[in-house]
Amino acid sequence: MERLQRGTVEHYEDAALYDHEYRRRRADVNFYRTQARRVGGEVLELGAGTGRLLVPLVRDGHVVAGLDLSQPMLRRCTERLRRLKPQVRTRARLVRGDFRQFTLGRRFPLIVCPFNAMMHLYTREDLARFFACVRQHLTAEGEFAFDVLNPDLGWLMRDPTKRWARTRFTHPATGKAYYYSTNHIYDPVTQIAWIRLFYEPVENPSGRIPRTQVVHLAHRQLFPEELAALVEHHGFVVVSRHGGFSGEPFAGDSDSQVYRCRMSGDV
Ligand SMILES: C[S@@+](CC[C@H](N)C(=O)[O-])C[C@H]1O[C@@H](n2cnc3c(N)ncnc32)[C@H](O)[C@@H]1O
Repeated sequence: MERLQRGTVEHYEDAALYDHEYRRRRADVNFYRTQARRVGGEVLELGAGTGRLLVPLVRDGHVVAGLDLSQPMLRRCTERLRRLKPQVRTRARLVRGDFRQFTLGRRFPLIVCPFNAMMHLYTREDLARFFACVRQHLTAEGEFAFDVLNPDLGWLMRDPTKRWARTRFTHPATGKAYYYSTNHIYDPVTQIAWIRLFYEPVENPSGRIPRTQVVHLAHRQLFPEELAALVEHHGFVVVSRHGGFSGEPFAGDSDSQVYRCRMSGDV
């Protein structure tokens, strides 16, 4: 598989593990729920994944279209929707597609792209196609809200020969114990962090050397002034930019860049 493609899909192949890893991440869900309540009307979520946000949105009463590239993530989202009452789950519509190139034939008053999904836009062309699609699907007065990480130079320049963040965990589906660790190589030219997630089995009943599974994740870094310029260049005005999901001001050491934008009319 091509390197960038692996970096886009591998982290999302084990959707049960994805949900387990991010089960405590609630602040962003609350933020997007608040935006949906404030804006009203239908929501389009780009990179909807397992429905971590989409499911709470439909439970809140919103009609939500969720687009994602990953079949395993969409399958898990479908399973979660199946557990809801029929009148609730019919408010959701899932579409498999690429957010750099899709046509749904209608516009939405709110489009969201949560949890770093835009960090899978690796090139200028990817970004241009993505923003053009958002423009085509947003109503004239509509809002586009998203968040991406704030590049952390200390983290990006970490020694790539070491393994970091070693923790032990139990896989939610198989019950097997693993050591998790991670490292990455940052390419300052393309601004891509080539991340590797290591899953090393704790037990080794066969007596053989345990096989560590390596999952690749490629994350394009979007630096603050670059991102503001990109948003403007692609025909949006920034309504707000925060450094987190509780309205905190954006600062150099903020974890995230949380944006709300509207179309400016000029591209
Ligand atoms: C970090 S997950 C976020 C999922 C969900 N929004 C959430 O908050 O849990 C990023 C999602 O973006 C999807 N994705 C990545 N590249 C994509 C693309 N080009 N088109 C559509 N979806 C994409 C992945 O499959 C993944 O489900």
